[in-house]
Amino acid sequence: MTDQTVIVTGAASGIGLACAKLLLARGARVTAFDIAGEKMAQNLPVGEANLHLIAGDVSEPSLCQQVVAETLAQFGGLDALIHWGAAHSMARWDELGAEECNRIMEINVTGTFLIAQAAAKPMIEQGKGAIVLCTSTSVLYGGTGGQGQGGPAYIASKGAVIALTRSLARALGPDGVRVNAVSPGITETAMIKDYSEEQREAMKQRFPLGRFADPEEIAAAGLYLISDQASFMTGETMHVNGGSNFG
Ligand SMILES: NC(=O)c1ccc[n+]([C@@H]2O[C@H](COP(=O)([O-])OP(=O)(O)OC[C@H]3O[C@@H](n4cnc5c(N)ncnc54)[C@H](O)[C@@H]3O)[C@@H](O)[C@H]2O)c1
Repeated sequence: MTDQTVIVTGAASGIGLACAKLLLARGARVTAFDIAGEKMAQNLPVGEANLHLIAGDVSEPSLCQQVVAETLAQFGGLDALIHWGAAHSMARWDELGAEECNRIMEINVTGTFLIAQAAAKPMIEQGKGAIVLCTSTSVLYGGTGGQGQGGPAYIASKGAVIALTRSLARALGPDGVRVNAVSPGITETAMIKDYSEEQREAMKQRFPLGRFADPEEIAAAGLYLISDQASFMTGETMHVNGGSNFG
């Protein structure tokens, strides 16, 4: 059982949805936040007392504050944030324009900072809390974009999340707030829907385990990082990638 109040972003789909469901099944109180409000309401058990839904864009500063304020009002506290929500960009280096680059940075970097900043404030007051951000194995690999793969805007935004994790971990550690990141390998979600069959087979060759991840396998890392079992971990990036990027 998990006696925690947790904000889960990206909760409409994929890893975030799996995470919200796992937490609810363990008895946690969950604020689910995603820009795809209708989809989130279709996929989660609306009406359950332990679940609060908020639809909107994580790059909106006032909305991030509202998500935290509503969580405190609804559940009386906030123990953890697990931030999976992100925008994808497949544009290759010679296709990427400033507009798309800025949009991806705004959602994946500024948005990550804003929701973490908002969540950290009540955690600091209570002297305890855990924040989990989401980077990507494609940062190690150096994905170039096209056909489902993250391109330079996406990769750069996910690289920034690792740096942000370290900066926030150092700033918030003295107040008892831990900040870590999960780095998923390729995971069976909407984000890889544009991979062709040939590409999927070729990519799987990189995985000693011979397959991509299920969303629950990545969500489990988030649950571990907010648990007391990870009480001495902060500033780390936890790679959960089926061995796709060693050696
Ligand atoms: N699927 C993979 O292979 C893979 C690999 C590495 C990293 N990741 C990361 O895992 C995380 C979860 O992705 P997923 O695979 O579950 O994909 P997904 O597309 O299923 O889920 C992403 C969710 O983020 C939400 N979102 C997008 N923009 C938003 C915004 N501005 N504000 C709030 N919510 C927004 C979407 O509506 C969606 O529900 C992401 O951070 C992604 O970058 C995924």
